[in-house]
Amino acid sequence: MVPTMDAKTEELRAAHDVLAEFYADRLADALNQMPIEQALLGLFCNLALAAGLGTGAGDIGCGTGRLAPYLAARGLSPRGIDLSPEMIRVARRDHPGFDFDVADLRNLPFEDASLAGVVCWYSLMFLAPPDRPAAFSELARVVGPGGYLVTAFKAGDDQVRRAGGSTGLGVEFDIYWLSPGEMERQLTGAGFATAFWGGRPAEGQEGSPQGYLLARRCP
Ligand SMILES: C[S@@+](CC[C@H](N)C(=O)[O-])C[C@H]1O[C@@H](n2cnc3c(N)ncnc32)[C@H](O)[C@@H]1O
Repeated sequence: MVPTMDAKTEELRAAHDVLAEFYADRLADALNQMPIEQALLGLFCNLALAAGLGTGAGDIGCGTGRLAPYLAARGLSPRGIDLSPEMIRVARRDHPGFDFDVADLRNLPFEDASLAGVVCWYSLMFLAPPDRPAAFSELARVVGPGGYLVTAFKAGDDQVRRAGGSTGLGVEFDIYWLSPGEMERQLTGAGFATAFWGGRPAEGQEGSPQGYLLARRCP
């Protein structure tokens, strides 16, 4: 049975169903050209493995699954989840051998404290302010004490914008360019402690600076 969704979540899911092949075309090898993102994901893998909680990792809002090989090559056993069934179909097609499932990050299919870490790569920017405390608590629930969360996000002023229109694919959805302060507030409020934060200016076609935060689940 398909669970009922609120209108904004349905809009987001439907848009990402349309965007799945577009992302697969444009982002498949993007990480190879992004040394800062590689370094931060590598640091996350090292810290998560050193936490002694095993190798289980959630790729939360995994999209086309492009990060799975990178995480696996550094010792983690990633399982991707995404709201969009089309993203999951493409992820399974393009990255056979990895586990990908449809799920909402606000109701994760992982046991309590079962993961060494979670990657939330450009996937927390769609949460409306009232949804954030429960969503970040759900992320904290599945990471073992001493495990890690890493996130990348479009950094900005916390205001809602409409995204998707520039693709020319007839989709639009809400996105929040979160301030680093808001991201850190949500994470610390949910039981994480900041281990590293950073950012960089927009490059190329990017419309915003990028923010990065790595946080440790408090014991
Ligand atoms: C900008 S894409 C990033 C995908 C991937 N992390 C990457 O870096 O290529 C954002 C993804 O988050 C997913 N997403 C957004 N809200 C979600 C939610 N509440 N639960 C699960 N996935 C969600 C979208 O469907 C989309 O695939």
